[in-house]
Amino acid sequence: GWVVVNGDFVPASEACISPFDRGFLFADAIYEVTTVVSSTLIDFDPHLARLRRSARAIGLALPWEDHDLQTLHKDLVSRNQLDEGYVYLQVSRGAGLRDFAIDEHMTPTLFMFSQARSVMQTSDAQNGIKVITVPETRWAHRDIKTAALLPASLAKQKAKQAGAQDAWFVEDGRITEGSSNNAFIVTKQREILTRDLGQHVLPGITRAAIIRLAEEQGYQVIERGFTVIEAESATEAFFTSATAFAIPVVEINGHQLSSGKPGPVFQAIRAAYLDHVR
Ligand code: PDD
Repeated sequence: GWVVVNGDFVPASEACISPFDRGFLFADAIYEVTTVVSSTLIDFDPHLARLRRSARAIGLALPWEDHDLQTLHKDLVSRNQLDEGYVYLQVSRGAGLRDFAIDEHMTPTLFMFSQARSVMQTSDAQNGIKVITVPETRWAHRDIKTAALLPASLAKQKAKQAGAQDAWFVEDGRITEGSSNNAFIVTKQREILTRDLGQHVLPGITRAAIIRLAEEQGYQVIERGFTVIEAESATEAFFTSATAFAIPVVEINGHQLSSGKPGPVFQAIRAAYLDHVR
């Protein structure tokens, strides 16, 4: 398929980025993943707003207008004839001599690709997944969407080795979020809990949409940290991300939730989200 390198469309096999790029050497890069359903970008504006926020947070000046970035997204979707999947966008600081100090005059590198992938109907959404909890090992600024994903990747690997599909990070006894998603539980009182925003979690675009939709459905959503014990004894749990939408969690650290099947609160919320993207 086609990819975008610095604003130009090139075949993926011909794409070239310098090995001296700070994205490669320092993970000095930020990214966004925007889902595509029926060739339409989902929630593009908030993704763009978060990209600008991440850029500001690491002192990177983005040399592209909103309109340019939107056009690149749309053109990539149409060139690759993408019906369902996602567009990945990464902006790194650029290439130069390896130096810990940042040269503020570097030209950022823009790289984009798209990938076809089922999002509306998936076996995880049908059956639910198992998670384990692991100590929070990422840096203190999880609110910035950086490409430094090694701790998240190692946590996911640990989950796989333990026979689960994802890991939820725990800091000071409370869950922050999943390896690449925001974590939610449902209490016996049918309240929906998810971590409050701050430096400790990524402000998920899907998280925001799900909270709004859940409240519209009459659920009470409480944004606060919850403990591992609260999670293990929850009646339901699920997680959200652009590519996963909402996926049920049916087991946490070996404790089965909602008799091992996706629960009614999850079902109602996923249905509302599918309506939102259709
Ligand atoms: N991950 N938390 C983390 C650590 C994430 O990496 C993500 C997204 C989310 C959910 O954010 P959103 O709803 O805006 O996708 C929460 C993307 C999908 C990824 O890395 O592929």
